[in-house]
Amino acid sequence: MKAIIPVAGHGTRLEPHTLKLQKCLLPVAGKPVIEHILDILISVGISEFTFIIGHFGEQVVQFTKKYTNVKFNFVKQEERLGLGHAIYQGLEKQETPIVIVLGDAILELDYSKLIENSNSVVGVAEVPDPERFGIVELDGQFISKFHEKPKHPPSNLAISGVYKINSQKQLAESIEYLMANDIRTKGEYQLTDALQNMLDNGSVFVQHTIDNCLDCGIPETLLQTNRILLGRINQNSTHSESKIENSKLQFATISKGCLVENSTLENVIMLPNSKVLNQNISDCIVGFNEILTNEFDERLS
Ligand code: UTP
Repeated sequence: MKAIIPVAGHGTRLEPHTLKLQKCLLPVAGKPVIEHILDILISVGISEFTFIIGHFGEQVVQFTKKYTNVKFNFVKQEERLGLGHAIYQGLEKQETPIVIVLGDAILELDYSKLIENSNSVVGVAEVPDPERFGIVELDGQFISKFHEKPKHPPSNLAISGVYKINSQKQLAESIEYLMANDIRTKGEYQLTDALQNMLDNGSVFVQHTIDNCLDCGIPETLLQTNRILLGRINQNSTHSESKIENSKLQFATISKGCLVENSTLENVIMLPNSKVLNQNISDCIVGFNEILTNEFDERLS
């Protein structure tokens, strides 16, 4: 089975960090978001990945070089015209299945069951605020309609970033239909609209419940995910080329070249070459080369 992972976006909600690094490469619980995603997918037998790249795409290409037993393809999304448009770049126009996983959330679920399902499958998670999401309406176990950010949601089952589509050809044709007729939602060619078009043309979809949606798309959720993953192993993740002196750390991800001195850190992600001196901080991301200190330190002048 092959998978498409779109990672062409700018990650504006994670600026300024994404002005230096592609969003999917930001560290969470000691390794890049995309490494968590790939490790899960490889463990369930996916052996070929097509990345849709754009913003800092070369960084993604470089990152994948550490994997040896899987195949990677890269397709550039020249214009950021939406998720449907992004996925279209990576589809093969054949009656073969494809798994699609977004590159900014770590989704924990029974992937084998999702892949083995004879129907096309959309991963969903219950959310308290369904009007903010793409939502599925169900008829028994089957999806009867897709709704993009509905004012009056028919369910609280949010489409959450994992799909298995039985026919790449049919999905490609549905996206082509959107593009040919300039059907956009919020200015973009949406995957949800393409799925609705497939449904209208007779494709059968079922839902699959995602056990844990560990989103990494905004600072708050990236930090929540860091806390959850490090909490499970009750450890910090500190790069061997960083220095921690006289400090107390809990749920901390410390990247390469960092210094922590006389500080207390709880659920903090430090990006490379940052420093935290004489601080008591929690739930924050310390940016590339950023220095947090109250006092004048002659080493920093
Ligand atoms: P998002 O819209 O959440 O990601 O898309 P973004 O654009 O990077 O973030 P913001 O909104 O600017 O903060 C979800 C996933 O789909 C990819 C993104 O890279 C991300 O992994 N995507 C989205 C594309 O590859 N191309 C698109 O046109 C849209």
